[in-house]
This record gives sequence, structure tokens and C-alpha cells, in this order.
Amino acid sequence: MNDFVFYNPVKIVFGGGKVNQAGEEAKNLGSRCLIVTGKGSAKRSGLLDRCANHLKEKNISCTILSGVQPNPRIEKVYEGIKTAKDNRVDFILAIGGGSVIDTAKAIAAGFYYEGDAWDFYTMKSKVEKALPIMVVLTVAATGSEMNSISVIQNDLTKLKIRAQGYPLFPKVSILDPELTKSLPKDYTAYASVDIISHVIEGYFTSEDNNTPIQDGFTEAIIKTVIRDTFKLMKDLNDIEARANIMWASSLALNGITTSGIGKFKFENHLIEHSLSAFHDVPHGAGLSIVIPAWMKENKNNLKHKFEKFAKNVFNKETADDGIEMLEKFFKEINAPTSLSYYNITNFDELIDNIMECAPSRGLVLTRDYIERILDKCR
Ligand code: NZQ
Ligand code: ZN
Repeated sequence: MNDFVFYNPVKIVFGGGKVNQAGEEAKNLGSRCLIVTGKGSAKRSGLLDRCANHLKEKNISCTILSGVQPNPRIEKVYEGIKTAKDNRVDFILAIGGGSVIDTAKAIAAGFYYEGDAWDFYTMKSKVEKALPIMVVLTVAATGSEMNSISVIQNDLTKLKIRAQGYPLFPKVSILDPELTKSLPKDYTAYASVDIISHVIEGYFTSEDNNTPIQDGFTEAIIKTVIRDTFKLMKDLNDIEARANIMWASSLALNGITTSGIGKFKFENHLIEHSLSAFHDVPHGAGLSIVIPAWMKENKNNLKHKFEKFAKNVFNKETADDGIEMLEKFFKEINAPTSLSYYNITNFDELIDNIMECAPSRGLVLTRDYIERILDKCR
């Protein structure tokens, strides 16, 4: 195993009904809150009002910034920074999924920064300080609730890239599986693809091959997510399945499965973020298209890992069997596996964009390699 530093200070409050503790948790963070939320689901379900009431009961005043869209844009971040400053807020409460949490993180960092908050993403500036962030999670997918990453899109430059820094760890995340029951079937499927993708990237590309704990963790996450996603496709209200998937989401990208595995590559995410930036596809749906193609392209270089994956996850023998089983799972839950699903046929601008973003992820890739993967996504 490689040397590593594991640091994760996020307090997790997990369980059905735990959203009722929102006020109790928030009162430690300040008395003026900016609530950040999405386009409408939290308002429609009554969750937004419930949370605001819990905070008000603890004498916390709330200003609401709604309308964060999936694949969140930098303009909303600018609006949020202005609102946060105008109202001199002490902390931010994100009520939503990855898009809302990532926007909240960007606002939290931008609040203290004199320059353009986009600088954190282009790596022109480091996140040194941020407002405290609290999360009430409504989509179990990205792991943003338990990590220090924020992914934001800039439509002017067509870049969807990430910022990272210790101040971006939420102080507390409430993981109440009941809140995810209203997530529709398609997004439930895409969320599961995303969770699986987070552990797959490190599993296949790790520098170190002697990491049985991390590999076992990964395999357990994948097997659980597959089993329980099938349950959810039959019954979106299956609360045990919602709970398992919610915890899987947080564990998959909180640093635990990648600690000690040495260097690894996040290539599927690199390619998918460009797909989202150009075609506004949901993140998980982009990944279910890219992952099988990426696997087919890499199976020969990483044969032993693909054979291990096939055996330990699906009880199959060959690398091809493992890939086929995962692709079959994506198809059975109606996650797209071809770019034709979104009528995407022009790859030139996508490849340029992927090549432009690769260095920021520490990746050195050739155009041919990207082209071969995209060809396999047709
Ligand atoms: O906007 P509203 O009306 O709330 O609707 C949302 C949105 O349309 C809806 N929704 C959320 N909770 C719901 C619900 N509908 C019904 N019931 C609920 N309980 O779901 C839709 C998707 O929401 P979004 O937040 O976009 O989903 P997700 O959590 O998958 O986040 C995706 C974003 O996170 C980024 C992705 O690239 C993408 O931009 N990622 C962030 C990462 C991180 N910070 O660590 C890592 C990931 O790899 C990923 O890149
Ligand atoms: Zn992801």
C-alpha cells in the first residue's frame, strides 16, 4: 500500500426523519443563513419550508437562493455571492443534490475572495477560506456531501471543471433517505451509475495493486448499488434500498476507497464533463455511455484488474464478461449506453475540450485515444 493522508471532517447525521434536526445542527454555524436550492423539487415537496422553519425555530434568519440547475453554472454562483454579501450571512445550507451542493461550495469560497470565483476552477487561485456549509441531501449520487470538491460549468468558455480545498468540506451533512424517495426513476438510475463510476475509476487505474481493503470496499459498494438499484426500479419507495444507496454515495467519493492506492486516473469523468458541458446531459447518464466504451478500450492493458472485477463483482471469468454484465445493468435500468441517445455525432469540439481539460486532472492523453473511446460510444 502507498503512503497517504486521509482527512475527512464532515459530520454525518444519518437516518429517516433526521431532517428534523436541521435547526439543532444549524445553530452551531451562525444566526444568518443563505439557503441554496434547486429549480423546484424542494419547494414542491415542502422540504424547503420545513428546513427554513427548523432554522427559524432556532432564531436563524434565512435568505433563499433557488433555481440552481443541473450541471450548475457560474452565473448562479455570482448571484449567490452577491446575495450572501448583501445579507451578511454566516453560513450556507444546501438543500439538494450535487449541483446545489457544488454551487453552495462555490458561493462559500467566493464570499471571502476579492477576485472572480471562477479562478478557483481554473486553478488561478486556491480556496483558502469559505463560509461554513451544511447539507440536507436529496440525491444520493455525487458524494459532494462528504468531500471537498465542487464542479461548476462556465458556458462562455465551455469548461466544466472542478475546484477542491479543505474549506469546502461541509461541516455537517444530513443524510435522510426518506428525502430521496421522490427522486424520479431516471435520475435514480443515473445516480447509481455515478456512485459506481466513482469507485471504478480508482479500482481500474490505481498504481498500487496490493490494496485488498480498498478493492473489497469498492466491490461491496458496486454489488450493493446494483442489487438495490434493481429493487428501486421496482419500488422507488424501498427505504432500505434508498438508505444503502445513500451511504454508498458518500463512501464512494470521500477518499476512503482511494487512500493508499497511489496515483489513479479519472478519465471517465474527464470525458463525461465535456459531454455535459456541450450537450447538458445528466452526469450519470453521460457516464453510462462513456464507461462501457472506456472499459472496452482499456481491458487489454489492465487485463488482470478486469478479470478480478468480473470474478469478484459478477462471479464471471473473463474481462469481457465483466464489461458485458455492467453494460447490461446500465441497459436494464434504462441508463443510456450510446451517444445516439442524445443525437451526438460531432466529436471534434468534444475532443478539443477534453484535451484542454485533461492537464487540470493531471492526465496526458492523445487525441487518438479519446477518439477511439468516443467511437466506441456511438
Ligand atoms: O432542481 P430540482 O427541482 O431540485 O430538481 C433536481 C434536478 O433536476 C432533481 N431532484 C433533486 N432532488 C430531488 C429531485 N427531484 C425529486 N426529488 C428529489 N428528492 O434531480 C435533478 C438532478 O439534480 P442534481 O443535483 O443535478 O443531481 P446530482 O446529485 O447527480 O448532481 C450532479 C452534479 O454534480 C456534479 C456533476 O458533474 C453534476 O454537475 N458532480 C459533483 C461531484 C462532487 N462535487 O464531488 C463529483 C461528481 O463526479 C460530479 O461531477
Ligand atoms: Zn461523478
